Amino acid sequence: MIRKFKVYTIVLIIFMACSDNRTVANSSKEDAINVKVDSLIRIMTLKEKIGQMNQYNGFWDVTGPVPNGGDAEIKYEHLKNGLVGSMLSVRGAEAVRAVQKIVVEESRLGIPLIIGFDVIHGYKTLSPIPLAEAASWDLEAIETSAQVAAAEASAAGINWTFAPMVDISRDPRWGRVMEGAGEDPFLGSKIAKARVKGFQGEDLSAVNTIAACAKHFAAYGFSEAGKEYNTVDIGTSTLYNTVLPPFKAAVDADVKTLMNAFNELNGVPATANKFLLRDILKGKWGFNGFVISDWASIKEISLWGHTKDEKDAAKVAAIAGTDMDMESHIYVSQLEELVKEGIVKEDIIDDAVRRILTVKFELGLFDDPYKYCDEVREKEVVNNKSHHEAVLDVAKKSIVLLKNENQLLPLKKEGQKIALIGALASDKNSPLGSWRIASKDNTGVSVLEGMQNYKGNTLIYKKGADVSVGETHFVNELTINETDKSEFDEAVEAAKNADVVVMVLGEHGFQSGEARSRTEIDLPGVQQELLEEVYKVNKNIVLVLNNGRPLTINWADKHIPTIVEAWQLGTQSGNAIAQVLYGDYNPSGKLPMTFPRNVGQIPIYYNYKNTGRPVADKTNPNLVFWSHYSDVENTPLYPFGHGLSYTTFKYSNLKLNKTSFKMDEEVQVSVDVTNTGEFKGKEVVQLYIRDLVASTTRPVKELKGFELIEFEVGETKTIKFTLNKEILGFYDNEGNFIIESGDFVVFVGGSSYTSLHTSFVLN
Ligand code: BGC
Repeated sequence: MIRKFKVYTIVLIIFMACSDNRTVANSSKEDAINVKVDSLIRIMTLKEKIGQMNQYNGFWDVTGPVPNGGDAEIKYEHLKNGLVGSMLSVRGAEAVRAVQKIVVEESRLGIPLIIGFDVIHGYKTLSPIPLAEAASWDLEAIETSAQVAAAEASAAGINWTFAPMVDISRDPRWGRVMEGAGEDPFLGSKIAKARVKGFQGEDLSAVNTIAACAKHFAAYGFSEAGKEYNTVDIGTSTLYNTVLPPFKAAVDADVKTLMNAFNELNGVPATANKFLLRDILKGKWGFNGFVISDWASIKEISLWGHTKDEKDAAKVAAIAGTDMDMESHIYVSQLEELVKEGIVKEDIIDDAVRRILTVKFELGLFDDPYKYCDEVREKEVVNNKSHHEAVLDVAKKSIVLLKNENQLLPLKKEGQKIALIGALASDKNSPLGSWRIASKDNTGVSVLEGMQNYKGNTLIYKKGADVSVGETHFVNELTINETDKSEFDEAVEAAKNADVVVMVLGEHGFQSGEARSRTEIDLPGVQQELLEEVYKVNKNIVLVLNNGRPLTINWADKHIPTIVEAWQLGTQSGNAIAQVLYGDYNPSGKLPMTFPRNVGQIPIYYNYKNTGRPVADKTNPNLVFWSHYSDVENTPLYPFGHGLSYTTFKYSNLKLNKTSFKMDEEVQVSVDVTNTGEFKGKEVVQLYIRDLVASTTRPVKELKGFELIEFEVGETKTIKFTLNKEILGFYDNEGNFIIESGDFVVFVGGSSYTSLHTSFVLN
């Protein structure tokens, strides 16, 4: 292969031998990589170094003819001249080989590209959207799902995913909540770690693992009023205690990269935010990987009004600590001059390049730049049967039973007439959700297909009404069906004669995700009306929701006996839903995000502050002067952590080993949980604390532990938790992690609304 690659390897060896006292044989793997990186940096020109900091999007059919003219030709020239360090969205072993070949064979040093892609919830075989997966609270299943994604992506030439998104959000209007783990920093941190582990594995140089990217750093989920790409103005307490912990968890799990956020944070665009990138991430946390901008976010620094032109933007982004430029084309055009003028120190460039090259070495790209380009492996691995089994497993675990009055579920397997209604019930595309770029349209199993596997009942399907009209695409605005009710009658007729009606309603698969903010988050279009029409003729309705965010479904909650939150569950969606409806899987999911009663309640979240006026005066309930809305019940529709099972669980005997502790002692908590129902089932046993008095006030409840446990019918298990300094402490307004003495309350139960509690003192 590859004359240039050989030349480069020789040069490298010479440099290694003459320039460093350490020998690779005697040093650790990490030291050995450092030596190689230093050696390589020494022989790179400034232009070549800046090239490593440049990432381009896939731009022409790389397996076809070479471009002539325009942007594509410039990019091609840059590849040949060693001015590109990475590409995104080139996929497939053959296509990646083709671009890799250009840099390896034609550029002076032949430094391989790192190939990035948005493998958000799978490559071709899709897992549930991340918010849904978070509802499983099953860290093992979540890690497995990331492993499957990494296995498929790496077989298709990709060695870097732009995931996990670890943005905490309290605003379901923001479309990107579908991509994260919900509202809670503790659950979010555990999931961040599981996802990083799943993608990166134990050995990043293995052929089936890929580098992860924790994004978007930081506070993107707090975008004003849930509006995409917007302003974030939050205080330090929220920043340190809520926003940053999942990023810190990802860094502690050795995540290799982070991505900037599109928002500004307290007046400074995240991409130019030295405080976030240099002081916290690379300073306090000692992060050794590299930071990539978001798409064109270096260019956008000027649009925010923080810099006057491209040169200025390149300067502030590089100085702030953004190491790689995704598609702004600004580093490659501006940085050389800035360095030559002494405005940006070459040390900053060297530091960025060192970080980027280190990840490339760790991936093993210098040993074999084509290691992820094996067409035979690609065929075997992508869409492998075992992957479908794994995503089915996590899909079932992600389903949340919100309500089940009259035990309408599980459905009887025989002798029933079932009417299945709703366009989403036969939809094979929407279940795939947003961010599924590599997978083929319409490859999800629909609910109709899933239910057809159960042959003992009579199943009649009627669409009722479309959710959207016209073409649907990831990059275009959707048109929702607000008028066409022409098929209502057929659906109502089918419902009239059915024993049970299963209605699958909710959002189109592209109604959540990037740039999909909504001001109303109820059932879109005419679906609410359809539900009410069907209800008039048959009250035995099981409502199955397909959606990428919490919805306001007050009417349904009031009238419909059974509601199943089934999100967008990926490739095996319909099978997972059918298995839950028929009781072959007993639902165990719990909400990772609060469901509001109306949009006016947003932001609504379980770990709010008590305020100085938390409750109404019981002696004078007409007095209005307490912290509340006067036109709605002051509770969520469904709280964080809520989720039912076909069985029931009883919590009792909550105990601590003592009631008074020294700072360094561990608090042992135990609780008995009994399966009091008629089905074997799993329960997420949740532990919350309240720190009653603190120098900066603490929330009324904070999740600090959970265990997912299976119980036989009638079985009781004693579940134990240990609380220590790390769990009981918090960040002060300067970002120091502190622990203070005082009274603590411990709550344990099956949701954040649990009232079972006990207390202790920390001295
Ligand atoms: C998104 C990122 C994504 C990038 C590359 C941006 O629009 O915000 O999350 O990784 O595009 O596709």
